[in-house]
Amino acid sequence: MNSRFVPILLLVLCSPVLLRADDTSEKRVANIVILATGGTIAGSGATSTTTVGYKAATVPVQALIDAVPELKKIAAVRGEQVFQIASQNMTNDYWLKLAKRANELLKQRDVDGIVVTHGTDTLEETAYFLNLVTNSDKPVVIVGAMRPSTALSADGPINLYNAVLVAGSKEAFGKGVLVCMNDQINSARDVTKTNTSTADTFKSPELGVLGYVQGDRVAFYRLPARRHTLNSEFDISGIDKLPDVEIAYGFASVSRTTVDALAAASVDGIVYAGVGDGNPSEVTEQALADARAKGILIVRSARVGNGIVARNNEVNDDKRDFVVSDTLNPQKARILLMIALTKTRDTKEIQRMFYEY
Ligand code: SIN
Repeated sequence: MNSRFVPILLLVLCSPVLLRADDTSEKRVANIVILATGGTIAGSGATSTTTVGYKAATVPVQALIDAVPELKKIAAVRGEQVFQIASQNMTNDYWLKLAKRANELLKQRDVDGIVVTHGTDTLEETAYFLNLVTNSDKPVVIVGAMRPSTALSADGPINLYNAVLVAGSKEAFGKGVLVCMNDQINSARDVTKTNTSTADTFKSPELGVLGYVQGDRVAFYRLPARRHTLNSEFDISGIDKLPDVEIAYGFASVSRTTVDALAAASVDGIVYAGVGDGNPSEVTEQALADARAKGILIVRSARVGNGIVARNNEVNDDKRDFVVSDTLNPQKARILLMIALTKTRDTKEIQRMFYEY
């Protein structure tokens, strides 16, 4: 054989082809691991109309899988119960445990993608954390539900089906961690919970969804522009404890009490959820400057929900040695600051990270 064709032949023979389980003409199906962490998707209520007052995080992962026998048609699925919590109880330690397990699995040749089932309250935070610290281009898809598994018209089963479909699709490769709910695919960086109770709560305001699931079709229309997953410089493999970063909230008539209390507690960083363009009041700006003088890192974010927090606009960030969050909301700015602090305390470096991730 002409030696020029040998590499091409090898490439063709070795390429994984991800297919549906019921597609008999092809060679193999996607192997998907479901990492279950709890939430309403694993919740149960007293009656089929109990959509408030139910108990989250009660149904084990195998029962979630068994409730959707259709999964067998699209992937070879197995589940692991990493922990079982309502996600308002999420902690940095749970994040490290989940991310380390995800990274172990993503290294395995017999794992093509991961689905994480999760409570919706902090789902966007876990998604962004994993977006920064999972070091693979294999799909990682986070999914939850707004109605418990026992509810009439529960959204968990279809959301889980769609998430497995996305995780097993070649289209999802290299797109960072994805949140798939309500037939929509959102980037972990941009998505946020926007409604306390409706099924269409997850949105990427202004920036928009990346794609849709329609029937059994996974369709992408946009790509995340910021660094993530395989292209991330962050590595949590040797980290057992994340830096302590807290959020202080801005409002009319705000005092310096919260910022001072955080500074007195010697946190590593404070994210200030300022008004408007991430603005602190005069007194809170001074409190933040005093905290910075103690060595605490300060990131200005905004409580507004959309738009770029401008550097050196109404606050002289250069003089104060503050960092701005770019478009990250306060809860995601907290995550990036924690991860950044595992590498550096240099504010210029941390500002670069906020402009890249
Ligand atoms: C939770 O976040 O665990 C409870 C709420 C939900 O999953 O919708």
